[in-house]
Amino acid sequence: MLINLLPAALQYLLTSRLFAQPSSKVSDPHSLKFELRHGLGISNSTSRVVFSDISSSSQFAPEPYVVDTTTLTIPRARSQSRFFSARMRGAQHTVDWDDTDVVGPNVRDRETLQMLAKMTNNAYSQPGSKDWYDLGPEWNSSYPFGWEPDADGFRGHIFATEDNSTVIVSIKGTSAGWIVGGGGPTTRKDKLNDNLLFSCCCARVGPTWTTVCPCYKGKSRCDQNCLEDSLAEESLFYTIGINLYNNVTYMYPHSNIWLVGHSLGGSLASLVGLTFGAPVVAFESPGEKLAASRLHLPLPVAKDHIVHVYHTADPIAMGTCNGVSSSCAIAGYAMETRCHLGKVIRYDTVSKLHWSVDVRTHGIAVIVNKLLSDDWEEGDVPEGNKTKGGVPPLTEEEDCSDCFNWEFGEFKDKSLGAQSCGN
Ligand SMILES: *[C@@H]1O[C@H](CO)[C@@H](O)[C@H](O)[C@H]1NC(C)=O
Ligand SMILES: *[C@@H]1O[C@H](CO)[C@@H](O)[C@H](O)[C@H]1NC(C)=O
Ligand SMILES: *[C@@H]1O[C@H](CO)[C@@H](O)[C@H](O)[C@H]1NC(C)=O
Ligand SMILES: *[C@@H]1O[C@H](CO)[C@@H](O)[C@H](O)[C@H]1NC(C)=O
Ligand SMILES: *[C@@H]1O[C@H](CO)[C@@H](O)[C@H](O)[C@H]1NC(C)=O
Repeated sequence: MLINLLPAALQYLLTSRLFAQPSSKVSDPHSLKFELRHGLGISNSTSRVVFSDISSSSQFAPEPYVVDTTTLTIPRARSQSRFFSARMRGAQHTVDWDDTDVVGPNVRDRETLQMLAKMTNNAYSQPGSKDWYDLGPEWNSSYPFGWEPDADGFRGHIFATEDNSTVIVSIKGTSAGWIVGGGGPTTRKDKLNDNLLFSCCCARVGPTWTTVCPCYKGKSRCDQNCLEDSLAEESLFYTIGINLYNNVTYMYPHSNIWLVGHSLGGSLASLVGLTFGAPVVAFESPGEKLAASRLHLPLPVAKDHIVHVYHTADPIAMGTCNGVSSSCAIAGYAMETRCHLGKVIRYDTVSKLHWSVDVRTHGIAVIVNKLLSDDWEEGDVPEGNKTKGGVPPLTEEEDCSDCFNWEFGEFKDKSLGAQSCGN
């Protein structure tokens, strides 16, 4: 992010403008007021989640973050161990779900969405000389850490209400730098796994690409068994999310936890929220439905606690940022999925606002300062009639299929017919 390169004073100025308006909602009984508590990041060398405390007097804790709430009914796995064992190859058992009522964000309220989007911004996070810590046994505060502006690594923040009743984990969007690049001890395997999650067939974008698994069988064919075998149960991407959630519940054992995220951070928020039954709001995420299925996550029938907010001019959220010359491919990774789980709030900025499809509309600043800065008027309601809160309707992506131009099946014996498989 360019903003990381600005001198600190200017950065602070920009930041405080972004966070300037105090909300009028502070006195609303249905609203919660959060404060910034910790920064989080991922150690370059060990792939561990590390934390730093942010004091309330810090310039990086600029305003009370006030959001409107509503009660959500969320299916939660009755047993976490059964949930995880159901993911294993050959597992036969099913997972039982219990409906639980929890306080979640009111996604029908535009200002709430805007506030949550601000909370996924990283403009106010600066590593500086903070003492990062790790809750694991190998605590070592001098871990090398992927904070360099160019590295654009995985990072986020933790917010809590004053009484710790509700905690928000925000996961910042990232380039795939921390997935594809970096030099962790298990990089090769991690890269393989994680490219499998968001690409159709081993990140084979074009003939010049080195595939991350040997499943490509010529033309547009991909061996399904090979794919499943290649995806070991260990995924760095998913594992980081699980560790992060466990670390947060260790710090806040009695809190109701929400997850918010931008871009890949939103996909991760969704996968973790599905796993633990936590409310999720994801902004401009690439489709994570295929990733959930390749990770063999048991899914409850109702996934309404996962809400995706995105707009149609963003090729990453729309799953159109692929092909050899796309900016995603140029950045070094394959971002080919488009189907999202749960509910979606989709802003048709292409038709309604005549935005052109451009990866630059993906950034969180566009979402905070443009997309969510004003009420949205739906084209299919009469002039002057806004939806409640000026937010497009909550819908589901029906009949969405990923990688439809690929044929998945068994191709070892060419005489066998292939089963085609959307997702
Ligand atoms: C925190 O996460 C690390 C991995 O980053 C994990 O090894 C450790 O066990 C976690 N700690 C707790 C208390 O959950
Ligand atoms: C922490 O890690 C650094 C390098 O990774 C190493 O040089 C140092 O000795 C470690 N410190 C402790 C206390 O283990
Ligand atoms: C909230 O949690 C923090 C740990 O991050 C703890 O230091 C603080 O005392 C807690 N506050 C309340 C009111 O429980
Ligand atoms: C972290 O990783 C990035 C690239 O992924 C690299 O440029 C940077 O030098 C690494 N930082 C450290 C401290 O190892
Ligand atoms: C706006 O929508 C509401 C409910 O759909 C309807 O009752 C009302 O008449 C509409 N107002 C206008 C100006 O069309």
